[in-house]
Amino acid sequence: MKATLVVLPGDGIGPEVTSSAVQVLRTIAERGGHQFTFTEHLIGGCSIEKHGVALTEETLQACKASDAVLLGAVGGPKWDNPNSPVRPEQGLLAIRKGLGLYANLRPVRSHPALLNSSPVKADRLAGVDMIVVRELTGGLYFGEPKGRIKERTGERAVDTMAYHDYEIVRIVELAFRLARSRKKKVTSVDKANVLETSRLWRQIASDIATRNPEVAIEHMLVDTAAMRLITSPASFDIMVTENTFGDILTDEASVLAGSMGMLPSASLGDKGPGLYEPIHGSAPDIAGKALANPIGSILSSAMLLRHSLGLEQEALAIEAAADRAITDGCRTADLGGKLTTQEMTKEIIDRITEK
Ligand code: IPM
Ligand code: MG
Repeated sequence: MKATLVVLPGDGIGPEVTSSAVQVLRTIAERGGHQFTFTEHLIGGCSIEKHGVALTEETLQACKASDAVLLGAVGGPKWDNPNSPVRPEQGLLAIRKGLGLYANLRPVRSHPALLNSSPVKADRLAGVDMIVVRELTGGLYFGEPKGRIKERTGERAVDTMAYHDYEIVRIVELAFRLARSRKKKVTSVDKANVLETSRLWRQIASDIATRNPEVAIEHMLVDTAAMRLITSPASFDIMVTENTFGDILTDEASVLAGSMGMLPSASLGDKGPGLYEPIHGSAPDIAGKALANPIGSILSSAMLLRHSLGLEQEALAIEAAADRAITDGCRTADLGGKLTTQEMTKEIIDRITEK
């Protein structure tokens, strides 16, 4: 198969980990006789340096014209001033919105060999295997009005949590589709005891559940969900929630995997390319030191093969190889090991190519 892939390495450790994922994709292409073309563009702080904005129109167009986008991370201390009119994170929000990527899939698994790498007790972690489905283009991140208003007596800031019914329908339906291929259970997380958006969310989720009786639905308030993620994380399978709740809960859930460096994500729309990125940030403190764990990015490339190119076997081969590398004791610094980013990448590629 032929595919055009845009690579947006971004800032900090972004370039190091996307390089690992590209090596893995090249290995897959070689073995399967696929033709993947990679083109690199800037996003985040490095784009601000060169173009004055975190995402240029040209880069967005290149992404739109591609089959899939592989992203590293954005941000760093240099661009940290929240009052600056241009910020690296704007690039990420613009590309999500610009590509219509309303569904963010964040799988969280506890590898049996990493149960002691998490601060959560090992007996709670056994069997954790869930996907958080985070709504990505609505809610507080994009709602209007938004801004700061100077008033006679001081200043006021406003963000708006708003959801259209169709935005809730499409994300919850996607969660139900995923649930059908898994344990047939959806936990819908909201704050329906307080928020109007959550009451609409819960009503729509209940309607969809009625139409899909083969999938069990559980409604859970977000504060309870935050607690259960620590007390009984293995009880979740598919969790679906709005943008901000999903942002917060997925950082919490990442602790279950032993290191944030392990976790991939896929951002999908109804059509067009998907965007694939590890859930970790740009980690400026370790950038350029070859210490970054490439697994989150490598597993993101597996999700790219699965969701954008339909190459399920190839995706499984990457996931199995990464799993085996961990089982065999390969560890980067975040997991208490000594392997460099490149050494870890090689361990995984060796396990993809061995018989
Ligand atoms: C994430 C990040 C982003 C978000 C930031 C960098 C804008 O935290 O992908 O979870 O809040 O969505
Ligand atoms: Mg986040």
